[in-house]
Amino acid sequence: MKPKLEELKVGFLAALDNVKDDQGLEELRVEYLGRKGKLGDILKGLKDLSVEEKKDIGAFANTVKAELESVFKRKQAELAHELAGAKAQDEWIDVTAPGIAPEPGHLHFSTQAIEEFVDIFKQLGFVRVRHPEVDWDYYAFEALNMPKGHPARDEWETFFIADGDKVMEGEKGKMVLTPHTSNGQVREMEKGYMPLRMMSINKTYRRQADVTHVPMFHQLEGLMIDKNVTLAQLKGTFDFFVKRFFGPDREVRLRPHHFPFTEPSFELDISCNTCHGSGEFEGNRCRMCKEGWHELGGAGMVHPNVIRAGGLDPEEYNGFAFGWGVERCMSMKSGMNLRDLRIIYKNDIRFLKQF
Ligand code: DAH
Repeated sequence: MKPKLEELKVGFLAALDNVKDDQGLEELRVEYLGRKGKLGDILKGLKDLSVEEKKDIGAFANTVKAELESVFKRKQAELAHELAGAKAQDEWIDVTAPGIAPEPGHLHFSTQAIEEFVDIFKQLGFVRVRHPEVDWDYYAFEALNMPKGHPARDEWETFFIADGDKVMEGEKGKMVLTPHTSNGQVREMEKGYMPLRMMSINKTYRRQADVTHVPMFHQLEGLMIDKNVTLAQLKGTFDFFVKRFFGPDREVRLRPHHFPFTEPSFELDISCNTCHGSGEFEGNRCRMCKEGWHELGGAGMVHPNVIRAGGLDPEEYNGFAFGWGVERCMSMKSGMNLRDLRIIYKNDIRFLKQF
């Protein structure tokens, strides 16, 4: 039996060497030292031996067993130590390492444009004011020389505010989401201070959505009212803005047009920065503009009816007004020819990050 026990020992030690974890350890214990294990199997043979042999082999078996148990315990301790070490390695944190700083954000594309506008016009004494975004028909249309039924109203594809299916109505007509910031003209004059130089920048809403229109956008409305205001001052103001916002090499052009609330009225154009107003680029027709110019917005000398609606005497006071879309203006800045304005409000960080 001794050789069998020796063999068992060698087998046990070799197997123990290959054990990698607690589970392996337990399997090995059951296999060799468990109640139905290999050691037990061998010792079953004891009963057939003589008393002398029993004593001798029994003592030998006990030493082997004790030896196996002792190496087993040592291995168990080793494994526990290794495990703790690995865990410490995995879960180790350097409490002195600097934190992960959140990426600094910045203002939205449109907000940046608005801040630039305010900065530029401030230098000419224009003050930023606010007017309602939800306003009465009177301020959006009627006071601007567009009485009920006036065909020009259709040009502003207006949203109306309804309570259920009934459009809200008050003394000043229906309630609308302002389709332009020109509602600020009469609202500002009603405040009753003169002279007046304001810029009203706000959200505007129209029922249209395509590559060059978003249903919610921003407009800037400028208004100057004083005595003896001239068209030259309007042009100078526009030129001042364009040179600062777009660059000193840009030219401005006032092109005759029609708006009900100004007389005379103009479209405001700026020279193309690819062909510099010539309409030709490298021997071909410039593909960036229409004949050398980009249309930015509208302007004119405030119509006497509008001055009157503002509570002033048009014989005494006059002025000019201008207006344009913030997003459009920003996207016309050099190198920023946006093909689809809608991307501005898709909240796609990859786009917004670039500005
Ligand atoms: N309100 C006009 C629009 O939404 C823009 C505009 C044109 C504003 C002429 C003005 C102006 O102040 O004089 O298209």
